[in-house]
This record gives sequence, C-alpha cells and structure tokens, in this order.
Amino acid sequence: MEMSRPLLVIAVLAHLVVMGAAKPPHIIFIVADDLGWNDVGWNNNQMFTPNLDKMASEGVILNSSYIQPVCTPSRNCFMTGYYPFHTGLQHGTIHPNHPGFMPSNFTTLPQKLKEIGYTTHMVGKWHLGFCNWKYTPTFRGFDSFMGFFSGAEDYNTHIRDNGYDFWFNQSVHHPPEGEYSANVISARAIEILDTVDPVNEQLYLYLPFQSVHAPLEVPERYESIYANISTKSRRTYCGMVSALDEAVGNITDALRDRGFMDNALIVFTTDNGGATWAGANNLPLRGGKTTLWEGGTRGAAFVYSDYLLQKTGYTNNEMIHAVDWFPTLLTLAGGNPDAGMDGVNQWPTVSSGAPSARSEFVYNIDEIAKNAAIRVGQYKLIEGSPGIFNGWTPLPPLADSALSNGPFPEHQLFDLQVDPTEHHDIASDHPDVVSKMLGRLSFHKATSVPANNPPADPASDPNNFGGNWSPGWC
Ligand SMILES: *[C@@H]1O[C@H](CO)[C@@H](O)[C@H](O)[C@H]1NC(C)=O
Ligand SMILES: *[C@@H]1O[C@H](CO)[C@@H](O)[C@H](O)[C@H]1NC(C)=O
Ligand SMILES: *[C@@H]1O[C@H](CO)[C@@H](O)[C@H](O)[C@H]1NC(C)=O
Ligand SMILES: *[C@@H]1O[C@H](CO)[C@@H](O)[C@H](O)[C@H]1NC(C)=O
Ligand SMILES: *[C@@H]1O[C@H](CO)[C@@H](O)[C@H](O)[C@H]1NC(C)=O
Repeated sequence: MEMSRPLLVIAVLAHLVVMGAAKPPHIIFIVADDLGWNDVGWNNNQMFTPNLDKMASEGVILNSSYIQPVCTPSRNCFMTGYYPFHTGLQHGTIHPNHPGFMPSNFTTLPQKLKEIGYTTHMVGKWHLGFCNWKYTPTFRGFDSFMGFFSGAEDYNTHIRDNGYDFWFNQSVHHPPEGEYSANVISARAIEILDTVDPVNEQLYLYLPFQSVHAPLEVPERYESIYANISTKSRRTYCGMVSALDEAVGNITDALRDRGFMDNALIVFTTDNGGATWAGANNLPLRGGKTTLWEGGTRGAAFVYSDYLLQKTGYTNNEMIHAVDWFPTLLTLAGGNPDAGMDGVNQWPTVSSGAPSARSEFVYNIDEIAKNAAIRVGQYKLIEGSPGIFNGWTPLPPLADSALSNGPFPEHQLFDLQVDPTEHHDIASDHPDVVSKMLGRLSFHKATSVPANNPPADPASDPNNFGGNWSPGWC
C-alpha cells in the first residue's frame, strides 16, 4: 500500500516513539566467566539454561564471536576497544598480588557513555587491576561498583588465598553471610534498576558475573538439576551455569517489569572458552581457556532486544571480536569512538545481519609465551605453541585422552570454513597463504607494546589492609 508523504512521516514518527529509537537505548552487558562453548542450551541440550536460550533464540545467536583466551585481556577489550597487545595486558591475568593494571590513558566505554549522559553501574568481577584506586571501577567510569577486584575467590565467603575481596564503591562490603555470588549480583543489579528512570535516563549496566569460574561451588538445588551426570565436577559446574541462567532471568524480568525493555539491548558473552580442567566443555571446538585454539577464543554469545534488532531469531555467522563492542555500543548510544581504535562498529552486522565490518583479527600476540595467532578471512595462522590444553576434551566421565602438549610446528594453518574444529594443519600445502598471513602478523607485531607483567609485590599482602585485597600499594 502506498502512503501519502504526511502519513508516512506520521507512521515513521509513531514507530520511533513506539520503538523508543528516538532515545539512546539502555545497554545491559552481561559477561559470564569461563563459560564453555558446549555449556549453553543452544549448543548442548544437556544444559538447563531456559532464560538464556529464550533470549538467544528470539534474539541473535552470535556464532562467530571471538574473545581473548583468558579473563583480564578480554575485559580489557570490552573496556577499551583496543587489543591487549596495545595496552600491555596480553600476557595472562592480573594476579591479586601483582601490580598490573589497564593503563589510565585509555578512555573506557563507561567513561565515554557518561560523557553523553548515561548512568553507569557495574556489578561483579573487575580483574583489570586494583593496586591503586585510580585503576578501579569508580575511577574508570562507573557511578557505582559492587563486586570484586580480582578473580577465583570463594562464591560465598569472597576470600581468595588469605584475603577478602568484596567491595561496594570504595568500601569493603559484606553481603549476607553465605549468600551465593550469582544471587548477590542479581539482587544488586535489580536494586540499581530502582534508582534509574527507564524513560528519562539511559543506563549502562555492566554485569560481569563470577559464574561459572572455579572454584566449583553451587547450592544443591541447582546441582540436583543434573542428578543424572555422574561426574561430580561436571554436575556442579552445570548447576553453576543454571544458577547464572536464573540470575539473568531475574534481571531480565526486572528490566521488563520496570519498563526498561521498551528500549534496551542485552549483550551476553563469555570472557573466554571453558576451563576443561574445571568442569567446562567446548566441544566440538579444540582446546579451552588459556589456549589460542577456537575452544579458548570463540565464545558463546548472543544479543537480545524487544525492539532494537531488525533481524532476529537466527544464528549470525559473521566475524565479531571483543574489541568491537566498544565502538558498536558507543555508536548505538550516539557517541563517537576515537579514530584508530582496534574495534569496529558492528551494529549493522548485529542488528540486521549485514556482512561483518572486519575480515581480519588478531587472537593475541604474547611475546612472553612466545605465541600469536591471526585470522584473515577463512584462514587462521597460529605461531608457536597454542597452549597446554590442546585436545578435544570429551564430556565426562570420559578421560581427557586428547590432551597433548605438542610439540607443534612453528606455524600452523587452518581453514576454519571447512575445518572449524582445527583437525587439519594445512600449512605445508599452502605456503603462499602462510607467508601472506605472516606479513599481516608482522604488521600487527610492529605496533605491539611490551607486556606489563610485573612480579608479585609483598606490599599487596591483605594483612596490610585489615585482611582485604585492597588498593593502596602502587
Ligand atoms: C539428563 O537429563 C536431562 C533431562 O531429563 C536430559 O536432557 C539430559 O540429556 C540427561 N543427561 C545425561 C548426561 O544423560
Ligand atoms: C555455527 O558455526 C559452526 C562452526 O563454524 C557451523 O558448523 C554451524 O553450522 C554454525 N551454526 C549455524 C546455525 O549456522
Ligand atoms: C597510552 O599510553 C601508551 C604508552 O605511552 C601509548 O603507547 C598508547 O598509545 C596510549 N594510548 C592512548 C589511547 O592514549
Ligand atoms: C555507591 O554509589 C552509588 C551511586 O553513587 C550509591 O547510590 C550507593 O548508595 C553507594 N553505595 C555505598 C555503599 O556507598
Ligand atoms: C531469582 O529470584 C527468585 C525469586 O525472587 C529467588 O528466589 C532466587 O533466589 C533468584 N535467583 C538468583 C540466582 O538470583
């Protein structure tokens, strides 16, 4: 039906009002910790993740969404839009007693969003350095922060090694004794919603859950969902995933009840592949957390929105990298990403399935581990040893028969289009492709900054700070 021009204008305006597109959207960025490829319902029907599955199936499953092999570097990407080899965070994670940090000259996504009027809150795991207050969340763009600075602490006691690590803004915080981390995080997220006006304010809510990183701990009622899994570690781990799913369900229900969903985008991603030694599984992908294999770097992810996505209910296979979220979300919010950032705006890809804005990305360049990997088109080149978990770890109770520590050739080449599970190194058949990719890798290496990998500093000792892992020692 043809519409007259005035009618068309009215229809478009009505649409904008209904869709809320006239205003920048609320952005809820949810990060799971160490969630494996094969640990979500849409990849494995053994998993009970009804809330995540519903949003994934009604939103867009991101089937080619890449992250870094470990925690700190991925969070660096989400926060800065730069590869870790440009911020000095390319080598491993920041241990609580090491004075590592995300350099303060990088403007974070929440800082940029605040500049354009957003209210910004964070609940969960930071892991981007805390030896000085200036490196911590409320100094890096967040109006409030509840959570922990480091990683791998107990889910109920919030203790790691000999120190307590749980904060509310700049004060040590004690949630009710024994309350499970996923519940603490969802309760605080919902409390935040009650402080924000869904119509006249814009919310950026960053929710990096503790779940489902080791230690393997979960209340019995979640573990019992998986009573038919005989291996204790896998059973507990799967229960942890279901607790995370319930927490996300509670938050999305609250978003909808309070009117945020009329104009909200939810991004869900893991920070790295599953730790196959701690209950997780990445099949059919090779390797896991800490490795440059797809099992370490290709992450379970989706986007969901009631109204903002043009094309939904499908699996998107376009190449997206963790650094892309910064420019994608900032542009969506009406801001301008800095020129020269490693990330690119992927909103056309994510929202309507347009071809990816990139055909290349760097998995990592780590001069200390002496390894690197790059993707160009369908090809992936790995230099050096990809890591120490190099097989296709089966689901328990089978033993990990595929663990192999190499040795590996100096360069391996995989055609991920035909071999996404990295079974066939084709480097010797395609020396031309290898040499082209080495050229691209050298190009990126030339811009790499040295890894900031300082040794442990005894000044970090929690005994100096009333038993807490605390800022104030660098
Ligand atoms: C356990 O039971 C669930 C639900 O009945 C089923 O979907 C799943 O495949 C079973 N898992 C195993 C390992 O048998
Ligand atoms: C997701 O990616 C895998 C591996 O690349 C591919 O085999 C599969 O067909 C993709 N899924 C969909 C639904 O496109
Ligand atoms: C931050 O400082 C480092 C070291 O001086 C420099 O390499 C980098 O380009 C700077 N980055 C930004 C975004 O200013
Ligand atoms: C943390 O900061 C937020 C935002 O300013 C505030 O609403 C909240 O009450 C603060 N919490 C504590 C415990 O200081
Ligand atoms: C979700 O909400 C229900 C109902 O309030 C509550 O019992 C449950 O503990 C919550 N779960 C999580 C993980 O937050």
